[in-house]
Amino acid sequence: MPIRPRRNRKNAFIRDLVAETDLSASRLILPVFVHESHDNVPIPSLPGCTMWSIPGLVEEVGRLLELGITSIDLFPCVPEDRKTPNAEEAFNPDGIIPRTIIALKEIYPELIVHADVALDPYNSEGHDGIVQHYSDGTFEILNDPTVEVLCQQALCFAEAGADVLSPSDMMDGRIAAIRSALDAERMENVSLMSYTAKYASAMYGPFRGALESAPGLGDKKTYQMDPRNLREAIREATLDEAEGADILMVKPATMYLDVVYAMRQCTTLPIAAYHVSGEYLMLKAAAASGWIDEQSAVLETLTSIRRAGADMILTYYAAQAAQWLQENC
Ligand code: PBG
Repeated sequence: MPIRPRRNRKNAFIRDLVAETDLSASRLILPVFVHESHDNVPIPSLPGCTMWSIPGLVEEVGRLLELGITSIDLFPCVPEDRKTPNAEEAFNPDGIIPRTIIALKEIYPELIVHADVALDPYNSEGHDGIVQHYSDGTFEILNDPTVEVLCQQALCFAEAGADVLSPSDMMDGRIAAIRSALDAERMENVSLMSYTAKYASAMYGPFRGALESAPGLGDKKTYQMDPRNLREAIREATLDEAEGADILMVKPATMYLDVVYAMRQCTTLPIAAYHVSGEYLMLKAAAASGWIDEQSAVLETLTSIRRAGADMILTYYAAQAAQWLQENC
């Protein structure tokens, strides 16, 4: 007689009983965009996403919490005239991010507020670090001077009440530097979710469109990782762990599930995967064609990211997925 694996797929209850992976709203982090205006406006490059005013976002969080989304990650759209070569706006205590954190925490102290740490939304050159130009026309993204600014930015967001800081810049040594800057100011309870393996990916286009933050000159390949490399991701993970990161992240997610899987084998830290703007847009566009079912494609995608070994997923689909999961149970 044949061995019959199909017995374990006989009906929905049995399938649930033997399921190896689960997906729930508590595993999802919603990236959100805020700007200085009083209007909440749709983001053309990210259909279904909104550029929020501060009060608009506070109101939206009430809805998110009802859906079981307890974690959000803040990204700012900074007016062009506030962007400078040294990105001073990044650590302005009256800047959009600190004010958003304060407004959110006043009403929802239990909400987990993540804030992205990097200079690109504030830097007139659209790079994650400070750009040094040379007379022969070449330029360099300076590592150590950037790390100093990142520490100031981290302190500014932590003072406003951020729970988790997420350095997305890929400068060397920034986790150790930010950790010791926080600890020196008695902010040892603020967590660091490091963008550990952030690849120089074509998938960030719609995000840069939303923030108008595309680099003016060159690309990000001298700091973001080369998509050809896996061992290097493990090297970065080892460093971030030693430097004191609380959570390691892989980004993008679906094209890099091998990286998530490999990282899962080599660390005991929680792993996050960022399902980025291009991955979101590909699903939206495919669903709009009418030839794939959006709900099943999205839930299958997010489940696959969990199956590869990610404990949590940053996704623009977080609220929508949470709603589908609620309706399905
Ligand atoms: C920048 C940053 C980027 C994203 C998150 N933080 C873009 C980039 O590195 O150029 C991308 C997120 C997305 O595409 O959804 N520090």
